[in-house]
Amino acid sequence: MKTKIIKINPQKIQPLKIKEAVKVIKKGGLIAFPTETVYGLGADVFNPYAVVKIFEVKARPLNDPLIVHIADKQDLFKVAKKINRPAWKLIKKFWPGPLTLILEKSSSIPDIVTSGLETVALRMPAHPVALSLIREAKTPLAAPSANLFGRPSPTTCEHVLEDLKNKIDLAIDAGKTEVGVESTILDLTQKPFSILRLGGVSLEELKRIIPEISLYNKGKVIAPGMFRRHYSPQAKLIVVEKGKDQVEKVKKLASKFLKEGKKVGIMAKEENKLQYKNFEIKILGEENDFRTCANNLFSLLREFDKEKFEVIIAEAIEEKGLGRAIMERLRKAQGI
Ligand code: TXA
Ligand code: MG
Repeated sequence: MKTKIIKINPQKIQPLKIKEAVKVIKKGGLIAFPTETVYGLGADVFNPYAVVKIFEVKARPLNDPLIVHIADKQDLFKVAKKINRPAWKLIKKFWPGPLTLILEKSSSIPDIVTSGLETVALRMPAHPVALSLIREAKTPLAAPSANLFGRPSPTTCEHVLEDLKNKIDLAIDAGKTEVGVESTILDLTQKPFSILRLGGVSLEELKRIIPEISLYNKGKVIAPGMFRRHYSPQAKLIVVEKGKDQVEKVKKLASKFLKEGKKVGIMAKEENKLQYKNFEIKILGEENDFRTCANNLFSLLREFDKEKFEVIIAEAIEEKGLGRAIMERLRKAQGI
């Protein structure tokens, strides 16, 4: 199969291009499309033959359920059986946006989408292309991130093509995504309400609306898909924790691997870049500019791989707000 690529300017969406994408969905095909977090790989949620292809092309285990994407609140009941009060409050505050809610599923959702669970993950993405696609298709889209299973999520269409070229029918290129990490996943089907994956909406923001929300096991994540090693670059990644001697530790580790003849890269904060003059570095962003850091994270991991680095030494950043989601992904990439 040859993947067709369509460029769409999100500020000036041409209806004909969306129509072309909708045709593919109606025929049971797969398309990569932009959301505000990362690119998704979408299929008609009500077509199990299309959905199963998502698992096939990503090489994703069937026991790792998908997120269902809607464009309008009236579509909620096509997907979920019950919407409780906390869900309404959160929807009002954060949708469209990077928050996925786990709710009881409607019986019309095929089992393949939820891996047989009685619950469904649901979100409304804040991206004009995603929204217009879902509206025109007149069906919610089941969509995981558009990467091969275990690889860093794609924040550009080029990333998607690196992993899935000629395995999917169509890819929409609308430039770099805005948030750069995936949505936050919150389980509202069991008390205490808990975060299964940190992402674009922070724990602090959620607690302002529902104070009793908790982080399971202090940040250890339990969504079925959150396997230990995930978001991985091919290189060995080592996180160096924050502290007075962080730079010294990074240098020591980098030197050790260099001596062993390895190609070593440092993922550094802007503030520390001058300290690593004799090393190869890539800059994540300023420590307190979490948005920039989130936006750069997956691209940098893919760049390190492309340039055949064997070891990445990454400086830890502060674990608050979006910083917590970034650190969660770095730790996962480390395989611990
Ligand atoms: O930002 C995002 O969420 C992106 C964009 C494309 O929307 N999507 C995304 O999907 O990251 P994916 O498939 O890569 O991650 C979805 C996660 C998986 O870890 C999966 O296990 C979990 O959501 N999940 C899906 N349904 C669930 C359910 N019913 N209960 C618990 N976890 C669920
Ligand atoms: Mg994913």
